[in-house]
Amino acid sequence: MPGKGYFILYLWCLVNFIVSSGGFKAQRCPAPCHCDFTSLSQEIVNCSYSRLRALPLEIPIPLNTTVLDLRYTGLSEIPPHAFSQLEGLKALYVGGNNIKHFHEDSFAGLWNLELLDLSPLHPDMHFDYEAFPTNLFRDLISLKILMFGRMSSSAQIQQGYLDQTLAPLHKLQQVTFPSLTDGDTPFGRGYNNLTSLKTVGFHGVGSVTNIRKHTFAMLKNCPIERLAFISCGLDTVEYGTLSSFPHLKVLDIEYANFMSVTEAEKFICDLNNTSIEVLHMYHIFGWRNWKPNVPQWIVSANTFQCLKHTSLKTLELIRNRIEAIDLQNFKFLPHLEYVDLSGNNLLFGLENGIQEIGFDKIFRDLMINTNLTLFRVDNNIYRTSLVTPQDIPSKSFWYGRPKLPLEPAKYSYVSPTPQTNRSAPHNFRLELPILKINLPENLEYVSISWWATDRNDYLPCDTFKGSVYFFPNKLRYLRIEDVNLKTFCALLYGLDRLEFLDLSYNGVNFLPKPFFENFISLIYLYLKENNLGPLIAEGGLHPIQLPHLEILDLSVNKISTIPKDFFGYLVSLKQLDLRDNRISTLSFTMTNLLSIEYIDISTNQLTALAISQLDYIMKMNASSLDVTLNMSNNPMDCNVCDGIGFLHLIIHSNMTTIFSNDSTCYMNGSKTSLESSLSRLERECDSSPHTIISSNLWLSLGASLGVISAAVCGLIVAYIYRWHIKYHFFLLRRHFRKRGVITATPGHVYASYDDNDYYYVTHKLLRHLEDEDQLDVIIDQRNFIGGASLSEAIVEAVENSRKTVLVLSESYVLNPWCEFEFQMSLARGYQSVIPVMFQPVPFDAMTKSLRKYIRARGYIKWTEDPDGQRLFWKRLSNAIFDENNILVQPEKDDTTELM
Ligand SMILES: *[C@@H]1O[C@H](CO)[C@@H](O)[C@H](O)[C@H]1NC(C)=O
Ligand SMILES: *[C@@H]1O[C@H](CO)[C@@H](O)[C@H](O)[C@H]1NC(C)=O
Ligand SMILES: *[C@@H]1O[C@H](CO)[C@@H](O)[C@H](O)[C@H]1NC(C)=O
Ligand SMILES: *[C@@H]1O[C@H](CO)[C@@H](O)[C@H](O)[C@H]1NC(C)=O
Ligand SMILES: *[C@@H]1O[C@H](CO)[C@@H](O)[C@H](O)[C@H]1NC(C)=O
Ligand SMILES: *[C@@H]1O[C@H](CO)[C@@H](O)[C@H](O)[C@H]1NC(C)=O
Ligand SMILES: *[C@@H]1O[C@H](CO)[C@@H](O)[C@H](O)[C@H]1NC(C)=O
Ligand SMILES: *[C@@H]1O[C@H](CO)[C@@H](O)[C@H](O)[C@H]1NC(C)=O
Repeated sequence: MPGKGYFILYLWCLVNFIVSSGGFKAQRCPAPCHCDFTSLSQEIVNCSYSRLRALPLEIPIPLNTTVLDLRYTGLSEIPPHAFSQLEGLKALYVGGNNIKHFHEDSFAGLWNLELLDLSPLHPDMHFDYEAFPTNLFRDLISLKILMFGRMSSSAQIQQGYLDQTLAPLHKLQQVTFPSLTDGDTPFGRGYNNLTSLKTVGFHGVGSVTNIRKHTFAMLKNCPIERLAFISCGLDTVEYGTLSSFPHLKVLDIEYANFMSVTEAEKFICDLNNTSIEVLHMYHIFGWRNWKPNVPQWIVSANTFQCLKHTSLKTLELIRNRIEAIDLQNFKFLPHLEYVDLSGNNLLFGLENGIQEIGFDKIFRDLMINTNLTLFRVDNNIYRTSLVTPQDIPSKSFWYGRPKLPLEPAKYSYVSPTPQTNRSAPHNFRLELPILKINLPENLEYVSISWWATDRNDYLPCDTFKGSVYFFPNKLRYLRIEDVNLKTFCALLYGLDRLEFLDLSYNGVNFLPKPFFENFISLIYLYLKENNLGPLIAEGGLHPIQLPHLEILDLSVNKISTIPKDFFGYLVSLKQLDLRDNRISTLSFTMTNLLSIEYIDISTNQLTALAISQLDYIMKMNASSLDVTLNMSNNPMDCNVCDGIGFLHLIIHSNMTTIFSNDSTCYMNGSKTSLESSLSRLERECDSSPHTIISSNLWLSLGASLGVISAAVCGLIVAYIYRWHIKYHFFLLRRHFRKRGVITATPGHVYASYDDNDYYYVTHKLLRHLEDEDQLDVIIDQRNFIGGASLSEAIVEAVENSRKTVLVLSESYVLNPWCEFEFQMSLARGYQSVIPVMFQPVPFDAMTKSLRKYIRARGYIKWTEDPDGQRLFWKRLSNAIFDENNILVQPEKDDTTELM
């Protein structure tokens, strides 16, 4: 039947067509390239670093390609219309090839191209119309970003900077040029047409450049906001040059070569007629004849006076050999939010040209009446050889401001009014004298590290016995590394929002006992390379009680003994670093390390992990231990009988244990090798692990990994009852404390509230309960008049009251102190908590336990209606006086915490 034959032939042709057009299955990827067609919006063909002989390729580049990378593929030319069929192409990379000039039609037809990256250009290339013909970019009407990249210093630059070639790029927003020529090559009139151009960068090769006023005159019509000169020379810049950039907001200069301080300061002054907001100057004085051309920069008083009409927000003067800065300058810059003076030789400040002692003064002046958010002065030391490369401050122009190395604050309790008084330890008995410090209102980040100084007694213990009190502030990050801060005797109050504290490399050997207790929001604590070992051993530091702490670094601290409870309150801790100390026994409890993921005890003196607690391991489900323990570089031996118990543990638990390669405990990634040594040991030693309690030295070394895992058992229980434990701990502590007892008189009611609700508490609650119901009400603002810590005062007050009234509100549920008060009241008695709501609070915002409590017990709701209010007070009084409920002890089956 001919019909059927035709049909088959037709089918065959159709299949052929589909296959050849590549439309049936996935598109075919050109041979040496890598393709990614998985994304819906992007079809990437990446041929970079593979050898393409020439274009076009044997397998055509898929028509739908949006990103094409042809860098370093050995191409020597781009033939005319090479990409004309790629109508959807958005980004094209062709640098690093042997192309010395482009054909007029090399980029023809790329109507939709948005990014063209020609960098790096061939070293022999000139920046002229032969290499970049006038019509080269004719079709690129959508181009937004154009990158030329560097050229060798011998390359010539065409008069006009290829203005005719660039003129058609009406949508161009960003361009990086290869270089600036020395002398008198102005930009041509074609640049008048670039009315979208916002960002211009020059990447030179460090040649000598003297810029004249007319050089950039044609750029005046471009709305240029960001400008960068990187390795461009810049020996002299004629005054008035920067008037060509009236819209300039961000200026970055890196590796310039200013002839003199006067040249540099004149240049700064020239910014007066721009809209400058961010000024970044990095290494602006070079070298000449093996000598620094400008050995030091003393930033004189009027340097920044010219900029007093601008709103400069960011000032980064990094690695510029600044020896002193006249503090007068900061008075001209009231909008400064971000100051970085790192990598200089800054040792003193000047005041009207007169040398001032030390840099404390610099801080004091900077900190007063400024709008700083970030202040950084790292690496200001003479012997720059001491600065390791990673300490050199990073450039921030192209990458934005340095990110705070913080995760988003999980516990921030940002209230509408930043001036919350709760943080202030009101009438607490601070040690006298009290040094009161007012930080700039918006200050969040301070880093003052690696500073050469002889001082090691900032607040010397013999002359300064007292406290430092910070007025309400937003400080989140404080890094003070290596400033020789040996002893520190003051207690710091008021840094309630601090999340990151780094005091590493200071050789600190003394801190007041409760030093860390006031940093209630701390998440990261780095105390590397100090000398805290003896202090910790002697109990000279209270156990660290920071409920939100996740990372604690105590490496290299000469620690040999750690008191049992030292890590007993770190329920959120994820990483504990005890590297490089002198620990021979693990004597501390880990019961409360509920979140722990990684413990590093490498490079210590652990000889073995005793097994006296092995019974525990057997009883509990050790396999669920999900923690990595780094034990490398300890003198441990797994080849002796006493190692059996420990071997058992690592084989049968999920715990990951790391040993040095040459250790007999080394596992080589699998546990099977250990299993064989275990069975060998069990044969040879002829005993079960339970009976290997020898008189061996190891045992006397006390605690052990066994203890760790045993502890995990208790830990779950401890977690469930953690608030009760805390409550009783505080009670006990108060009991033993001779002085500083809180003198709250026994009352009927303790009111727990956030400062934002102070109005309700004083005007409604207090007025009614005290005046009409004749009740004694304890509130913190009024009744806390002494004591060592707020926590204890709260426990005291809770203990002394029949009931705790929680004044719930949106800010209440975000305030960790309020949560603390709730938990403490709960720990006192399940029935002694009375939640009231003056405003609706979304249930989602509450902590689980609070939500659960309210679901179970309900709450009393305020209303604006007078009848409703009468009912409210009646219900509240009933709840307070309910005889049946007074002083109910926590019940054993109280499951409030089990969630
Ligand atoms: C190419 O893109 C068009 C539209 O963007 C789409 O309809 C077509 O399926 C794509 N072809 C292939 C082979 O992906
Ligand atoms: C192509 O691959 C190289 C490495 O193989 C990579 O560095 C480059 O970023 C890729 N290009 C694109 C456009 O993703
Ligand atoms: C530049 O703009 C001028 C006037 O707007 C116009 O006459 C000229 O053709 C443009 N040049 C190019 C190359 O587009
Ligand atoms: C800055 O602008 C003012 C007026 O706008 C002008 O008088 C002054 O000469 C300009 N300064 C420079 C350096 O161009
Ligand atoms: C700075 O610019 C302002 C206005 O832009 C002008 O009034 C002032 O004279 C200028 N100062 C200098 C020193 O050029
Ligand atoms: C101070 O900084 C804040 C943001 O950090 C800004 O909103 C405010 O306008 C600044 N005030 C002044 C006077 O510049
Ligand atoms: C908070 O402190 C300020 C002064 O520091 C004071 O004026 C204000 O009344 C206080 N607010 C409360 C609720 O105590
Ligand atoms: C032990 O780890 C494995 C893999 O990580 C996991 O599948 C298993 O559930 C863990 N066992 C326990 C008891 O957690």
